Amino acid sequence: MVREVIKNFKSENELVIKPRSYINHAVSFKKSFTAEERAKMLEKVGLNVFFFPAEMITGCDFLSDSGTTTMTDEQWAALHFGDESYGSNKGYFKLKDTIKDVFGESFFKEPATGKPNAFIFHQGRPCEDALFSVIGRLGEGMIIPSNGHFDTTEANIQANRIDAKNLFSPELKDPNSRSFFKGNMDIQKLKELFLSCPGKIPVVYLTITNNTGGGQPVSMENIRQVSELSHSYNVPLFFDACRFAENAWFIRKFEHGFGNKTIKDIVKEMFSYVDGFTISFKKDGLVNMGGGIFLKEGGLFVTKYPQMQDDLMNYQIIKEGHPTYGGMSGRDIMALATGLKTITKLEYLDHRINQVRDFGENMVKFGIPILTPIGGHAVYLDVNKFFEGTNMQPKDFGGVSFTAALLAAYGHRACELGYFAFGSYNKETGEEKFPEVNFVRFAVPRLRYEKQDLDSAAEAVKALYDNKTKIPPVRVTYGKELPLRHFKAKFEFV
Ligand code: F0G
Repeated sequence: MVREVIKNFKSENELVIKPRSYINHAVSFKKSFTAEERAKMLEKVGLNVFFFPAEMITGCDFLSDSGTTTMTDEQWAALHFGDESYGSNKGYFKLKDTIKDVFGESFFKEPATGKPNAFIFHQGRPCEDALFSVIGRLGEGMIIPSNGHFDTTEANIQANRIDAKNLFSPELKDPNSRSFFKGNMDIQKLKELFLSCPGKIPVVYLTITNNTGGGQPVSMENIRQVSELSHSYNVPLFFDACRFAENAWFIRKFEHGFGNKTIKDIVKEMFSYVDGFTISFKKDGLVNMGGGIFLKEGGLFVTKYPQMQDDLMNYQIIKEGHPTYGGMSGRDIMALATGLKTITKLEYLDHRINQVRDFGENMVKFGIPILTPIGGHAVYLDVNKFFEGTNMQPKDFGGVSFTAALLAAYGHRACELGYFAFGSYNKETGEEKFPEVNFVRFAVPRLRYEKQDLDSAAEAVKALYDNKTKIPPVRVTYGKELPLRHFKAKFEFV
């Protein structure tokens, strides 16, 4: 009878507002601070939002989606099962089974059967240093191309005297492109690089999703093509896999032939094309800490560079810990093994990515210029378009001005990832170099905010947009010439 009755109504899928796929397990009350108090603090920290005390953020903290997740009740429970033994703790074996289940059997060999092919680290960047310092021993003049290296990835490559090259897709730079996969690598440019620099490319990198390239996903077709091309030159392919599950969701949603597949099947196919991956589990591991390097057993990387497994193990032991725990405590490993199970669930990903999209669409509705389509983990404000019609010049770093104004006036923290973060200044020549893209990023932490929070942030951005001529430029008072300058610099409003 009840089943008959419900047929009289719209189906639940037809309703516009859907309930969240989770409920609150714990909540944290915020202290209140006035705009005046925030402004005073911002002046004290030289308008650098990284130094602004998180406790004073009365709105949303969009500084990063990395390590900022709210863990599930199952993860909190799993922490209690953490085994803090010095070697081969219980969680390590649990993690091994989960990694094999999620990414494929060949990414985690049975421990104690020869050289390990899985290396656990405390976060993403030590994995990068480990891998690139080992690769760096191959010699001078090497280049590692990517669809978009993350800033620390690029810095770690360069610190090991290798050149890092970004081969962004032409669609990313084309505002009229309707492509759903603007995160792709420019395959033509990759071909040209292979031809012009024979023997100089030790490995090719694909970042999924492409964080530097607007959080845009990479299509399965592009992954396959990059893999085929790289392998035809006998060069291994790696993923920077931080947001692998979100990338898989986009493939399922927008790429022909994947709509009926499970996220897990799509993930397995994606990883079948690569020879290894580095990952910061602080994103799609759904944890606050963790990272790893995983090499495919029998893949091109381990067969081409047989010495590197030993080199990586030595690096890991010296810098982080034994391969069976690496840089992680037993309890963190348990939380990770549990988080990896949630992250590939469709109902989680549906909610996650629709929440980010809804946030971005609100901005679009207000006429605010953002990168579209909206990516998986963040909304990227187009700073140049935002300031169109004002006197803001590239050297005024409008993105930095905007983040300071937003935080002071409305208590939301976003991050400039554009002319300042990715630009550089030559002290000798006085030359300022600007990158191709100029964004402010609103990275949405996982499972942390509700619709109301994000709606209020969109409204705050609109309030600034309506008064954009009143946002002053900034002057850099410290650190203009430093590497990774956005983490260190100080500014003042002019
Ligand atoms: N690769 C990508 C694509 C990343 O987004 C990050 C971190 C890393 C590597 C490094 O990982 O932080 O664990 O050392 N991204 C964060 C962000 C910090 O805010 O986008 P990590």
